[in-house]
Amino acid sequence: GRRVTVRDIQAAKSSGEKWPMVTAYDAMTARVFDDAGIPVMLVGDSAAMVVYGYDSTLPVTVDDLIPLTAAVVRGSSRALVVADLPFGSYQASPAQALETAARFMKEAGAHAVKLEGGHRVLPQVEALVSAGIPVMGHLGLTPQSVNAFGGYRVQGRGQSGEELMADAKALEHAGAFSLVLECVPTDLADRVTAALSIPTIGIGAGPGTDAQVLVWQDLMGLTERPAKFVKKYFDLHGEMDRAVRAFADEVSSGAFPAKEHSYS
Ligand code: KIV
Ligand code: NA
Repeated sequence: GRRVTVRDIQAAKSSGEKWPMVTAYDAMTARVFDDAGIPVMLVGDSAAMVVYGYDSTLPVTVDDLIPLTAAVVRGSSRALVVADLPFGSYQASPAQALETAARFMKEAGAHAVKLEGGHRVLPQVEALVSAGIPVMGHLGLTPQSVNAFGGYRVQGRGQSGEELMADAKALEHAGAFSLVLECVPTDLADRVTAALSIPTIGIGAGPGTDAQVLVWQDLMGLTERPAKFVKKYFDLHGEMDRAVRAFADEVSSGAFPAKEHSYS
């Protein structure tokens, strides 16, 4: 079958169907999620932490993310693949945003891009949309602004909720096809979801958004101290720990490799 498109995503909002998004950073994991019917995969700049071992998303570069994005595109055949534009690769100007997004599409085969922020990035969103590039917005706890926020904390409480609502409407008006809402109060996410005709994708935004996204290492239980909004669907850390210890023990004892793993 064909790839999911931004039109399919829009149709889901109209029909009220909720959908899942997960991150992916390599071909084999992307294949598992694609075969399971996950319609949209995000190659997040969270790769900074879960792939590259940094303690924030700030250090990761376009050159770091392009090979991961290309691998996810190669490993999938049905999902819409969204490339996250990393810190410093789009804020300077619409021209910079266009140059970066074009690299993700030409060199990696991404189908859409995501960038963080509201009114400050509207010219960038407009330039990308004019060039035919679908743009996913991201408001609330935007991790590339962690230093301005003074830590990873809930955003949009009180008066700043009205600013977030205005930014959400402005992003829709600028042509964004969807909007991630991260770590915002449930009632604000509900009001934004009702006010917009494009789908909202929540992470720590309560049950009322049109879609939900999680970092795959969080939902699989590989992440060591996950945030409150994470639900652990598997104990991958525990399972991998058990398996690699069993391998080590069998190497020590000589139980591995057995005859069936050897050539005559
Ligand atoms: O980088 C990322 O994984 C993200 C999602 C959590 C939305 O931006
Ligand atoms: Na991100």
